Amino acid sequence: MTASNRIVLSSDHAAIPLRQAIAAHVAAQGWAVVDIGPTTPESTPYPKHGEAAARLVASGDCRLGIILCGTGQGIMMAANKVKGIRCGVCAETFSARMIRQHNDANMLSIGARVVGEGLALDIVDAFLSAGFEGGRHATRVEMIGALEG
Ligand code: RB5
Repeated sequence: MTASNRIVLSSDHAAIPLRQAIAAHVAAQGWAVVDIGPTTPESTPYPKHGEAAARLVASGDCRLGIILCGTGQGIMMAANKVKGIRCGVCAETFSARMIRQHNDANMLSIGARVVGEGLALDIVDAFLSAGFEGGRHATRVEMIGALEG
């Protein structure tokens, strides 16, 4: 298993079934899934799960990450505090494709209380099948990195 096909998945308690469905979906596509939980339904704070997944991406251990909470918003905010992470919340496929093509997003966040499983899997597919276009977008992504200090 190399970092090039490793993808980390994480969530809080609000998104366990959807996270597990996504894990099975991407594993069937050949991704090496690093599912860091949680697996039990007790309430658990989304920042720690967002941070844990983000650190695996930022370190290069995993190429991409998919994180989920009820809205996708809180866990995205936490992940984006980790240097090198560019994570967007998506509730439709256009944005999921564009955050890869234009923003070189390395993490995707989904709200399990916002989208159903069918749409969520389409969002994941749009994200994973798109590639960064570089060029003028690279300059802009570098500007985001410069904000990290
Ligand atoms: C948990 O109830 C909920 O606040 C969380 O899953 C998420 O929606 C936060 O952004």
